[in-house]
Amino acid sequence: MTTVGVTVGVTGAARGIGAAIARSLRSAGYDVLLGDLDASVVELAEELGGTGGLLDVTDTQSFERWLALVPKVDVLVNNAGIMWVGAADEEPEGVAEKQMAVNFHGAVRGTLLAARQGARTIVTVASVASYVSPAGEASYAATKHALLGWMKAARQELSGVQLCLVLPTVVDTELAVGTASGGVPRLTPEQVADAVVKVIVKPRFETFVPARVSVLVRVLALLPQRGKDAMYGRLVPNQTKADLAVRQDYESRRLS
Ligand SMILES: NC(=O)c1ccc[n+]([C@@H]2O[C@H](COP(=O)([O-])OP(=O)(O)OC[C@H]3O[C@@H](n4cnc5c(N)ncnc54)[C@H](O)[C@@H]3O)[C@@H](O)[C@H]2O)c1
Repeated sequence: MTTVGVTVGVTGAARGIGAAIARSLRSAGYDVLLGDLDASVVELAEELGGTGGLLDVTDTQSFERWLALVPKVDVLVNNAGIMWVGAADEEPEGVAEKQMAVNFHGAVRGTLLAARQGARTIVTVASVASYVSPAGEASYAATKHALLGWMKAARQELSGVQLCLVLPTVVDTELAVGTASGGVPRLTPEQVADAVVKVIVKPRFETFVPARVSVLVRVLALLPQRGKDAMYGRLVPNQTKADLAVRQDYESRRLS
């Protein structure tokens, strides 16, 4: 597939995985439309020779204005996301709703708007937490489970559009600061970006990063509850034990 003249929109592109996706896409020759709540996304777009604009994925008008910055978005990457970590009964009021608004409704909104205007491929950065629920990430995992559930139905309904999910383990970005990685090594944003670019070239519904995690997830699903509990204990990080003090700066900026 030629990449010349193909425009890929990336949400949450100011930093972390989104910025890495933007850089990888430009290296591969795609045109990019970058969006974020953070105005620095415009500078990144300028640096990469793409188009950038403010975007709040929780707001339909903001999303429509952003998509209208280019003649057409051929591919959309729903990447924007936020995460609160801690014991479920200590989560402040409204934080679950905020995560749902960005991680679930933001990606659903993007998918429907981009599909209506003719995008042919829509990649959503979900998470291995679409399948596995680490302690300390109850609401976050719920948003990613919800995304998987919605996409399974929507892919049957949206004819002519390829819906794809990329499901990474823990990635070294500010969203994951202070968290543990469990039985798998921490990924770089570039590893996830690489997977996203490959999925755009050859769309498939689910891509785990790293790929071997798909085997663990399938085995986990088949085990009786006692086996599941044992595997959780060995492989899935308990994020109630994350360094919550280190996370305060991120969470006060993104979740309050
Ligand atoms: N870091 C991880 O361990 C990890 C693992 C699996 C999946 N993910 C997913 O990857 C995606 C990117 O996460 P990241 O780790 O790069 O996080 P990050 O915090 O480094 O970057 C997320 C970006 O999204 C933007 N954003 C937040 N709310 C927004 C909104 N309402 N509208 C537009 N932009 C908004 C932020 O400003 C930020 O620039 C998220 O969907 C996250 O859930 C992350």
